[in-house]
Amino acid sequence: MTLDEFKDGCRSLAGDGPALIGGAADLDAWAEARNTLVGRGQGRLTALMATLGALPHEARREAGQLANAVKVELERLLEEKRSSLSAAAPAAPVLDRTMPARESWRGSLHPVSLVVDEICGIFRELGFTVALGPEAETAWYNFGALNFPADHPAMELHDTLYLEGGGLLRTHTSPVQVRTLQQYPPPIRVLAPGNVYRRDFFDSTHSPVFAQIEGLAIDEGISFADLKATLTHFAHRFYGSTRRTRFGPSYFPFTEPSAEMHVEVDLGDGRGLRWIEIMGCGLVHPAVLEAAGVDGEKYTGWAFGMGPARIAQSRHGISDCRILFDSDVRFLRQFAR
Ligand code: PHE
Repeated sequence: MTLDEFKDGCRSLAGDGPALIGGAADLDAWAEARNTLVGRGQGRLTALMATLGALPHEARREAGQLANAVKVELERLLEEKRSSLSAAAPAAPVLDRTMPARESWRGSLHPVSLVVDEICGIFRELGFTVALGPEAETAWYNFGALNFPADHPAMELHDTLYLEGGGLLRTHTSPVQVRTLQQYPPPIRVLAPGNVYRRDFFDSTHSPVFAQIEGLAIDEGISFADLKATLTHFAHRFYGSTRRTRFGPSYFPFTEPSAEMHVEVDLGDGRGLRWIEIMGCGLVHPAVLEAAGVDGEKYTGWAFGMGPARIAQSRHGISDCRILFDSDVRFLRQFAR
């Protein structure tokens, strides 16, 4: 190494430095430029200084002064650049604490649950309480105690899943009639909501699992007039007091006489008012009272069974029941209260 070579090194460093520093667009690029020029490890100035010892003794003083001048200049430029870069850095974002929070949806009751609650509420005012029974039933509670003769064609509508060991998934909530009668002495006024199972297709009007609500009133001197009056009152409370209702004949093994109740509603499908069936009902068959151990000479009563999904459909103009099973939030959130 000669003094001239050392001077060349200083000159090229002093020439490259300003461009390198000036070109740094942000603090990261600045740190990189500083490292290249004066960094302690591999910086060009550091490497040059390390050669000082290899110069002839008399050249060292001049070389040292020169290198030092370059160093001072580079450091001045670096400091100038650093302060201009950090002045331009964007300030931390300002939080607007007055901005209203984004609303979060906490979920809501399902439209069928809302209908069940509403129906229970109307009957609660009339002195009805709620009774629950198991979904896995015995054939006796589901059929036998309800006066289904063995192999009766009425059972064809009630095919279901049979469980190992003899049980079955209940096909209606009517077994809760028997369970309640066995458990409590009359007078009895109960509603029994719950899920039931049938061998049905899943289409716009059927589902192999659906909700039902059973009603049961047992007391001394109860007649068909009580059934009509109570259920008409219910329909007027639920659908509106000017709504027309009617009863038509029907058949169930566990009621005699049996009826179906119709209400005139507008389903909102452009077809105007029309009659829809909202439930099956009737006077409790004496054979059911007997099976449950209730004195049929002393007590009479009536019962009904309805499907709250159908009721919800008629209330909201829902033409396809499958949407009730989809868990589609765009549908369900419309019922949030
Ligand atoms: N259990 C009957 C059904 O599922 C409905 C019903 C209940 C009819 C009570 C009369 C009395 O279809």
